Amino acid sequence: MLNALSKAFFLTLAANRPLKRLASRYGLRKPTSFARRFIAGETTADAVAAARAVQAAGLFISLDLLGESVVTLDEADAATRGCVALIRDVVDAGIERNVSLKLTQLGLDVDHATAVDNLRKVLAVADRHDFFIRIDMEGSPYTQETLDIWETLWGLGHRRLGVVLQSALRRSEADAQRVIERGGRIRLVKGAYKEPKTIAYQTKADVDEAFVRIMRLLLKDADYPAIATHDPAMIAATKARAAELGLAPDRFEFQMLYGVRRDLQAALAAEGYRVRVYIPFGREWFPYFMRRLAERPANVAFVVKSLLRER
Ligand code: FDA
Repeated sequence: MLNALSKAFFLTLAANRPLKRLASRYGLRKPTSFARRFIAGETTADAVAAARAVQAAGLFISLDLLGESVVTLDEADAATRGCVALIRDVVDAGIERNVSLKLTQLGLDVDHATAVDNLRKVLAVADRHDFFIRIDMEGSPYTQETLDIWETLWGLGHRRLGVVLQSALRRSEADAQRVIERGGRIRLVKGAYKEPKTIAYQTKADVDEAFVRIMRLLLKDADYPAIATHDPAMIAATKARAAELGLAPDRFEFQMLYGVRRDLQAALAAEGYRVRVYIPFGREWFPYFMRRLAERPANVAFVVKSLLRER
């Protein structure tokens, strides 16, 4: 009960705009600051340094220039320029070419066409440099539009563009089938947003069961699926399914978040599995950080301790 309440509390904070503005202004000043455990830093140089360290440990990366829920054309244009600049910086840095982004960062709340145009601008540069671009999945008001946009661009030949499906949503099994039929690449997650019970499973057991069902389907039929979780039970089920199918470890990958279960990331890599670390950075870190707190009450204690130490 307490967990459910604190989860709802942090997810509400995640959507609070004034708090987001305040936090972006003051939160990441010092490298020791509390958000740094989960966010690589404010600048591309911070992200590149984090990426190099992760790659040196034998892991793969996806960089995420944080940003979401922009409401004006100017903000959407600025975010698009930011993504394009990131792609160029990654090429110059010579690190792995893999970026995750959100459609509300590119203007989906302004309108559909803005988001599509901006994504196409990003892809024009990304495709030229052989990047893989993953469209993160946001809350359920955006699910259909996000999948539609992926499908449109896939149809236009952007084949290094992947989507994310959330096992919490009841629709995701059908969505997985549809993306598989088209040959697209899926990252499977549990889902980080508070969703109504009419459309989403509400208990961990149900979300986990759906995760396993979809994972089993992806490993059998999908092109290079990404199983994104820190849950040892989900990881064990994935390993068992891969063994059952005789699937080589380079036919799928695990994904985890920067700063979360680094021990497990290293252990899986040592066992020969591919592990990709999602590395978020930038000034717009507040909603992302709040979602991480919502996932695990122990993270709140960690933040409080860091704040006390920093004082
Ligand atoms: P679960 O929440 O059941 O946690 C299992 C265990 O993992 C915990 O007991 C704890 O040990 C550890 N753990 C989990 N979260 C932790 C945290 N924040 N801090 C410390 N330990 C933690 N969601 C979404 O809606 N859209 C998206 O596009 C993405 N993208 C994405 C990419 C990648 C690479 C990952 C790993 C996750 C996402 N997510 C996401 C987030 C995802 O939906 C989910 O909220 C988190 O991964 C937490 O769920 P777990 O599967 O880890 O299991």
